[in-house]
Amino acid sequence: MLGLPAGGTPVPLYRELVRLHREEGLSFAGVTAFNLDEYWPAPPGASFADFLREHLFRHVDLPPGGAFLLDGGVAVERVADECARFEAAIRAAGGVDLQILGLGLNGHIGFNEPGSGAETRTRRVRLAPDTVQRAARARAEWGGCTEAMSMGVATILEARRIVVLAFGAEKAIAVARARSGPETAEFPASFLRRHPRVAWYVDVA
Ligand code: F6R
Repeated sequence: MLGLPAGGTPVPLYRELVRLHREEGLSFAGVTAFNLDEYWPAPPGASFADFLREHLFRHVDLPPGGAFLLDGGVAVERVADECARFEAAIRAAGGVDLQILGLGLNGHIGFNEPGSGAETRTRRVRLAPDTVQRAARARAEWGGCTEAMSMGVATILEARRIVVLAFGAEKAIAVARARSGPETAEFPASFLRRHPRVAWYVDVA
């Protein structure tokens, strides 16, 4: 079971996984993939599910039904059920073995924005204004998205192993705060220190 983020950071990772599949026989036949989060409502053609299909799923041998994705198209009265369904699906699959994470400049992991406690579960969230602005620069369709569904901090911390990817000078302060600042809901990535098996992949900056 793999938990996968969208965003700019994991794109080279997905490219390499596709290469390993094509050239070195890496198989996804036994994989179940979960998305870490999804815009709600998701912009048509530019959802995080579309993103993962575009960058990874359609290039590898993930089996039909191998991707378990939050549905960003559900009606408002079904959002809570969709989040509960997702948590249940993770449990039914035996839990996430490896969760990949990017890191927000404001300390978000998934879309657990500042204020998200360690006990949070998959739920509807409001995005921080700086998150929306940054997303708009990455992809125009994402600029109109102010809400999302996200695995909670508790959901993330239940993964057996976690890999955090954070590259470039702009992420340096966030990495430092996550690893050695106070452990606080105001900087949710700081809760990763509670997990015994987190690998940080960072660059020199
Ligand atoms: C994406 C996600 C976010 C991003 C983070 C970093 O699914 O959950 O937490 O990982 O905002 O985004 P990038 O990689 O675009 O810098």
